[in-house]
Amino acid sequence: MRLLVCGGAGFIGSTFVRLRVRDHGDDVTVLDKLTYAGRRENLQDVESDIRFVHGAIEDPVAVADAIGDAEAIVNFAAETHVDRSISGPEEFIVTNMQGTHVLLEAARERGLRYLQVSTDEVYGSIEEGSFTESSPLAPSSPYSATKTGADLLVSSYFHTYGLETLICRGSNNYGPHQYPEKLIPLMILNALAGDHLPVYGDGRNVRNWLFVEDFGRGIGHALAHGVPGEVYNCGGPDECDNLTVVRKIIELTGRDESLIEFVTDRPGHDRRYSLSSAKLEALGWRAQVRFEDGLARTVDWYRENDWWWEPIRSGAYREYYERHYGRALNA
Ligand code: NAD
Ligand code: DAU
Repeated sequence: MRLLVCGGAGFIGSTFVRLRVRDHGDDVTVLDKLTYAGRRENLQDVESDIRFVHGAIEDPVAVADAIGDAEAIVNFAAETHVDRSISGPEEFIVTNMQGTHVLLEAARERGLRYLQVSTDEVYGSIEEGSFTESSPLAPSSPYSATKTGADLLVSSYFHTYGLETLICRGSNNYGPHQYPEKLIPLMILNALAGDHLPVYGDGRNVRNWLFVEDFGRGIGHALAHGVPGEVYNCGGPDECDNLTVVRKIIELTGRDESLIEFVTDRPGHDRRYSLSSAKLEALGWRAQVRFEDGLARTVDWYRENDWWWEPIRSGAYREYYERHYGRALNA
């Protein structure tokens, strides 16, 4: 298949590109703005198999240049970190909402299939049970509000213009190449460095963990087999609270609990996410990686790939970290 993958230099997008090139022989063009989270390094092993265009999804000229003869657009491009959306929502509105609109217009002009990569956070928090695709949308943060706005716009293009749209909502991903502002890579790298492990609030917020390759396969599955106009949840096989995640990382890195530090909670912090994936499973997809195994693989990957994270930890990330956590990272 000929694909335009937007945001393909990020964590999940690059995993998806790798899967599509290696397992499906797809012809892939990546369009990516290369924000702090987008890195050519994420694609270095498939660099010669793809076309890369440096540009923003909110820029119609860049989109027209990248689109070529693509048969479908898969949109990963987004500002993705909840904490950053709380301190500065503007970029989230531009990328997540305006950018999605530009891509939808490009797909409409050319009659392309369009898959929007979305998140369980659009449903808000759930105390018990799991969200289905018909659960009400109740986002809590500027990040999830802009993702929800984008989802609604995507659906409107199906209903109004008959565009072949799909929405695939994932739960919390983890795995290689995840930027270390997110819980799991942050805790792994801090633990390896003997640095403090900053747990928000009481540490009892629960996330539904999904290994990144399972999400990549789920998105590919929805793209190939999904019914236009439909939404598909794609959740991980295991749920775990943050404190338990951190304790597992301490064990895997040979550290001790004295590194844990409880810090001020995130404003509006969602307590629990949980997705039912029955609809995507009915199409034949299943998560293959259990959390225990995926976490051990992830710790090993970060331990063995300091070439990937060392430039991040010694660069602008240090300033972000100091501003956000009010203390410096270990050198
Ligand atoms: P990421 O932050 O690692 O990567 C985002 C990518 O988008 C980067 O390559 C960045 O350069 C690019 N980008 C940002 N703004 C852009 C713009 N205006 N134009 C073009 N490119 C731009 O994100 P991720 O964790 O890989 O998430 C990818 C998608 O999956 C997002 O849409 C996110 O909402 C969704 N999602 C993420 C998770 C998760 O746990 N990480 C779970 C469910 C859904
Ligand atoms: O659920 C899917 C979403 O998962 C994606 O849509 C988002 O793009 C992605 O960032 C992620 O959002 P979360 O807010 O759940 O992920 P994060 O890694 O930021 O935090 C996970 C949990 O860990 C959350 O309860 C907050 C907590 N946390 C996070 C950080 C960074 C801490 O306790 N300490 C921290 O330092």
